[in-house]
Amino acid sequence: MPRNAVSRGLPDFPWDSLAGAKAKAQSHPDGIVNLSVGTPVDPVAPLIRDALASVSQVPGYPTTHGEPALREAAVAALARRYGVTGIDPVAVLPAIGTKEMIAWMPTLLGLGAGDLVVIPEVAYPTYEVGALMAGCRVLRADGLTRLGPERPELIFINSPSNPTGKVLGIDHLRKVVDFARSRNAIVVSDECYLGLTWEAEAASILDPRVCDGDHTNLLAVHSLSKTSNLASYRAGFVTGDPALVAELLEVRKHAGMIVPYPVQAAMTAALGDDDHENEQRERYRKRREILLDAVRRAGFTVDNSEAGLYLWLTREEACRDTVDWFADRGILVAPGDFYGPGSRRHVRMALTETDERIAAAASRL
Ligand SMILES: Cc1ncc(COP(=O)(O)O)c(C=O)c1O
Repeated sequence: MPRNAVSRGLPDFPWDSLAGAKAKAQSHPDGIVNLSVGTPVDPVAPLIRDALASVSQVPGYPTTHGEPALREAAVAALARRYGVTGIDPVAVLPAIGTKEMIAWMPTLLGLGAGDLVVIPEVAYPTYEVGALMAGCRVLRADGLTRLGPERPELIFINSPSNPTGKVLGIDHLRKVVDFARSRNAIVVSDECYLGLTWEAEAASILDPRVCDGDHTNLLAVHSLSKTSNLASYRAGFVTGDPALVAELLEVRKHAGMIVPYPVQAAMTAALGDDDHENEQRERYRKRREILLDAVRRAGFTVDNSEAGLYLWLTREEACRDTVDWFADRGILVAPGDFYGPGSRRHVRMALTETDERIAAAASRL
């Protein structure tokens, strides 16, 4: 163990604590339905695989900044899919999946001891991890009044949210931008689930209705893992404030944080095509309807969950008891306490199983 092991300053890896429930769910005679992690199960679209294969013979180093075609495809996709305009392709930077970009963001932006990072009250764990890796203080706050006179360096937001599926409206996002501008904070908006909305419209932080076309101090992080089933490829990007993106690029060039060339080609194809994305969204929509109906019939209350890849459920009991109840039925879900101290009475149910497994889960409920 190194003298100052970094891992000692980080939370326990939460999934390890699910081993018992997983073993129980696996012992179900008809097999486990794993709705815990939220990993894609549907195959990668042929046009993306072909793009990857088409350059698999190329031996040279890829660029950290990414091929111009990839950056242009990202700009076009953001405009076409989400109405985000005014991005120069130079302000797009590929990520080796967005988890690493989020985890390293405070460090790459030069934050350190004493700096404050604000994260959502119920949050994807990597925001806190990223802040802790940089030695920053962490404050969980959804409302800006909670911040009082604090002057955060960086604010992570996530709409649609993992795990709650909550969408922040345009007014809320505008307030975040105004607040950040007034205190010179950077806003990093994790937009992993922007393409998966069911009952609410979700807007990017770079949407002109939110930021009036001014991207200063704003970064949007986009993953292709869920919308294009590319979790295995590790594919995402960040864009927004050109000065911040240039700084991230400079540091990442030195640190060797480079997206492999064949993955860049795959991303370019994925960002250029909306059909596979629409098909995938429709698959999730159907699975969501089946699960939503089943959990409601089983007596659960579904909170938020208007977008994203998860249902956020409660039966007003300790979340670990609910996890056990599902495990008895061969279904594995994630306890709310993974996502913050304020969510001990919810569980998160992912929509990411095959149609056959989703039907099995519904019939067991
Ligand atoms: C909110 C959120 N952000 C980022 C990620 C990271 O995705 P990836 O590293 O696959 O791009 C996830 C993955 O589940 C997520 O839920």
